[in-house]
Amino acid sequence: MQNSQGNVSLPLNLSSGIAESKSGEFWRLGDVSVRRIGFGAKRLAGSGDGGAGSRDRAVELLHQVVALGVNHIDTAAFYPSHGAAGQTRFESLGWANEVIRRALAPYPDELLIATKVGPTDHGMARPDELRGLVEDDLRALGVDALDLVYLRQMGLPSIAEHFGVLAELQEKGMIRQLGVSNVRVELLQEAREIAPVVAVQNRYSVGFGRANDEILRLCGELGIAFIPFFALTAESREAGGVPTAVPAAGVVQEIADRLGATSAQVRLAWTLSRGDHVLAIPGTSSRQHLEENLRAGELVLSPEDLATLDALLD
Ligand SMILES: NC(=O)c1ccc[n+]([C@@H]2O[C@H](COP(=O)([O-])OP(=O)(O)OC[C@H]3O[C@@H](n4cnc5c(N)ncnc54)[C@H](OP(=O)(O)O)[C@@H]3O)[C@@H](O)[C@H]2O)c1
Repeated sequence: MQNSQGNVSLPLNLSSGIAESKSGEFWRLGDVSVRRIGFGAKRLAGSGDGGAGSRDRAVELLHQVVALGVNHIDTAAFYPSHGAAGQTRFESLGWANEVIRRALAPYPDELLIATKVGPTDHGMARPDELRGLVEDDLRALGVDALDLVYLRQMGLPSIAEHFGVLAELQEKGMIRQLGVSNVRVELLQEAREIAPVVAVQNRYSVGFGRANDEILRLCGELGIAFIPFFALTAESREAGGVPTAVPAAGVVQEIADRLGATSAQVRLAWTLSRGDHVLAIPGTSSRQHLEENLRAGELVLSPEDLATLDALLD
């Protein structure tokens, strides 16, 4: 962004601290080198009610996020949740962004905060609404320019008009880097003809299927980051935090037990194994889970275990 180490006791047998740098641990996301394991802010409030207690816990967690060396936070004005049935939904949009500002501003230079625009209460934003949404994010985060903005598309046959608006805002200096989310290859290519794309954020996890294989591979060839969401919750998606409730749970747990790891760590290690350009943004409201997730970067899966997990895509 333009404008602090925890002691960890985890099941992995580790020789180095989280904050130490290793090869393959970073990816150049636009103009910032980010750790490949970042932090997703959608779950920041956990089961909290959005009030002062939730905010204080979230601020404390964000301090830990940064103190543990994470420098890529993924957020949106519509987090913690955007109206999914049975989910936390706070009255005030911008909750996560405002908590991030309260916790972390003035932001360290090496911190990249990614936001996304598109979803609104009435569905996909119109092109003429995007500038207002970007301005809301600028205000909520308290910055002059957003580091990375994704066009989070919902069912558009073409994203040219929407992405063109974001490219104009980039030219005006309101946005530094652009990404696209929930896209297929054709839409990525459409965006690239308008302005450089530094990241694609699509759903992907152990057992997800092959639907994103091609775009993941293409991103690698083009030097674009592929950043999966729901890498832990997979099919259980909005139902929340129980990776054991997802398909392939038994296979993943067997590998985890054998390695002295947790199933979440196996899922994240597999995610990172998909390519150097593949980043992780696990969401959590728990310090223990945060630390556990960061340790996943040090978990080495054998070729046999990787093959077993890869086969679950079929
Ligand atoms: N572009 C998009 O359309 C889109 C859509 C959804 C999400 N996202 C982004 O992607 C990020 C990741 O998605 P997500 O947060 O929805 O799902 P996720 O990362 O797959 O899973 C998060 C859930 O897993 C639990 N969890 C996290 N670490 C755990 C661990 N070590 N052990 C056990 N449970 C654990 C969390 O609960 P606890 O709080 O109990 O840890 C939380 O409920 C989001 O935060 C958001 O930034 C983007």
